[in-house]
Order: sequence, then structure tokens, then C-alpha cells
Amino acid sequence: KRVAVLISGRGSNMAALIEAARAADYPAEIVLVISNIPGAGGLATAEANGIAAVTVDQKPFGRDREAFERAVQAHLVEHRIDIVCLAGFMRILTPWLVGQWEWRMINIHPSLLPAYKGLDTHARAIADGVTKHGATVHFVTAELDAGDVILQGEVDVVPGDTPETLAARVLKVEHEIYPQALRMIATEYKLI
Ligand code: GRF
Repeated sequence: KRVAVLISGRGSNMAALIEAARAADYPAEIVLVISNIPGAGGLATAEANGIAAVTVDQKPFGRDREAFERAVQAHLVEHRIDIVCLAGFMRILTPWLVGQWEWRMINIHPSLLPAYKGLDTHARAIADGVTKHGATVHFVTAELDAGDVILQGEVDVVPGDTPETLAARVLKVEHEIYPQALRMIATEYKLI
């Protein structure tokens, strides 16, 4: 399966997917990286790995979200993409793009969904005093952070944790579960 990874920043989850896809038996290849932010760190990582790295700068599109998404979709079609992985991609997608990729677009979210949808998940978990936290790979639907869960990884919240120390612990789990989740949907689901 041909995979595109959409990023907005350093792309550490993208790097984990690239690393995993090196394995000869891995059922997917990362063939395209798209960033909505020029100069995102992950673009250099993609290029260093010989992967097409494209910037679709969101700024010129202003508030026309669908126009931005049509530009992204053109690259996905051009590269004959089968599966889209959102990885630190900081945009909420409209039903238009999500509708093109039902059961073929996944995202990693730094919480144990359905808990802590949205932003600042680590600070919120600490503020609530929860002892378990983690990350979730889920299908992307038009509703934010609400698609069917594919895989979750759990971590302990320890006394004295800050959002930064907790985020670092969760990020390690993200890098483990994302490649596993992509392997699952690249093989298990009959892609229509
Ligand atoms: C990570 O915390 C991830 O949970 C969220 O975006 C952050 C940055 O990810 N989706 P990455 O290092 O750019 O992959």
C-alpha cells in the first residue's frame, strides 16, 4: 500500500513510520510527505530518506479550507496514495476531504480516546489527577478525535509529572503504536 504522511512540525511520528516501513515484510511504503507549514522539520527528514516532500502552504488559502484541501488531494491523487496518515498535522479537516478517505485515513492522538479529545491533553490529564494516560490511533471522521479506535498504548502518570515529562513518555508509545496500527489497516482491511 502507498502511504502519504501529513505533518505540520518535527514529524517524529512520520520518522517512526518511515523507519518501520523499511522492513521487507512491512505491508506499506511511505511515498509522500505533505506539510501545511513551510519549513516543517519533518520535510527535511523525508527528503533525507528519499521520500517526496511537498509543502502546501495553508496561508494563501486563508479561510477557504476546502480550497486548501483540494490542493492537498491533488498531490495524494498524483502519487496514487492508498492510505493517509495524519501525524502531528494541526488542522481540522472538512467533511469534503474526510469523505474521500473513509476507512483509509488515520491519526495519532496523544490521549486514551474518548478521553481528552482536542488539545493540551497532557496538562488536562495531570490536572484531573488521572494515573493512566496514553495515545490512540484512530480512523479520521468529520467529528474531531471521534473515529473508531484502531490501537491504543497506555502509560502511567507519575507524581511530579509535568505536561512535558508526560508528553515525552506518551511520544515513545506513539512511535510504537503508529507503525503497528498502519500495518494492521494496510493488511487487515479490504481497501475499497
Ligand atoms: C505529538 O504529540 C502527537 O501526539 C501529536 O502531534 C505531536 C507532534 O507529533 N499528534 P510529531 O512529532 O510531529 O509526529
